[in-house]
Amino acid sequence: MSLEAQILAELAQDGYTSGQAISHKLNISRSAVWKHIVKLREQGYVIEASPRNGYRLTRRPDRLLPAEIQPLLTGHTVGNRVFHYQKITSTADVARELIDREEPEGTVVVAEAQTRGRGRMGRTWRTPPGRAIALSVILYPRIIPTLTPLLSLGTALAVKRAVEVVVKKETGSAAGVALKWPNDIYLNGKKLGGVLLEMAAELDRVKWVIDSIGLNVNNLFRGTTLEGRATSLAVEFDRKFPRRDLVVALLDELDDIYAGAHTEKGLAAISREFEKHDLLQGKRVEVSTPDGVVIGTAAGIDSEGRLRVRVASGKVRAIFSGEATLSQEKSF
Ligand code: BTN
Repeated sequence: MSLEAQILAELAQDGYTSGQAISHKLNISRSAVWKHIVKLREQGYVIEASPRNGYRLTRRPDRLLPAEIQPLLTGHTVGNRVFHYQKITSTADVARELIDREEPEGTVVVAEAQTRGRGRMGRTWRTPPGRAIALSVILYPRIIPTLTPLLSLGTALAVKRAVEVVVKKETGSAAGVALKWPNDIYLNGKKLGGVLLEMAAELDRVKWVIDSIGLNVNNLFRGTTLEGRATSLAVEFDRKFPRRDLVVALLDELDDIYAGAHTEKGLAAISREFEKHDLLQGKRVEVSTPDGVVIGTAAGIDSEGRLRVRVASGKVRAIFSGEATLSQEKSF
């Protein structure tokens, strides 16, 4: 944990904490404590300083700073390093650069705003400043490349779990988040977020994965082309949500799911849990795949994370990647 995060932890309790107590606890000089207090103020923390009583933290910024997130994480891998940016092209671009610099597994890149955010299938992804969650996690999974779709299903599950925990804590109600294969997160019939998995692999070995999440938290869509199609927690519950708590819950849930993803049992659990919440299940679907459009009835997720579609002949096709939409015709 950085010194600034440690100082914040010391200032977390009500009232004043003396500079001497902090310097003693962290084994740094009192002038070093002061230097870090100045840096924290520059980041938006409001810290009062009294010559007699010491320091008092009176306001934390609504920013996803490492010092806000890291002390609260309980996982082992995801979030062991956190890079925060005010505005970048895309967290996935920066994660790619960090892979070249050999940053370790679990490194997280988070941004308050993205200028060239991207979604699946070459779509753009909007991240307005300070309202949403946009992050990428660097992973070096020890699984065969054909199993990586399960990581993306697992990430969508982590988002679902995290949103439900935070919504319950904040509002007392159950959010009922649904998932749409392969990695869309839905709330009340509208898209709340999505997962983008990018990777480099050899035939039998994954070299790296950039596991990215975009989640609409306090975004408002009034008057935009997304109104009616996309949603956010603020739109659905008519109140703001703490992005920090969501990021912490999300990284912890992802850490938990990822820890299990290296065993057959853990991988099987991902597809089973995803299947339970997949809003395509049993519905008539049209799936555009690299080999053409497949029309049929969605019949679950197989052990490799592929969508099973029962086609007119009665046969079941397993689809590795594609874009599924609900079709208006009746199921058969
Ligand atoms: C989708 O639903 O199409 C996936 C959206 C993924 C968006 C996230 S936001 C963080 C990361 N950076 C990007 O440019 N895209 C992903």
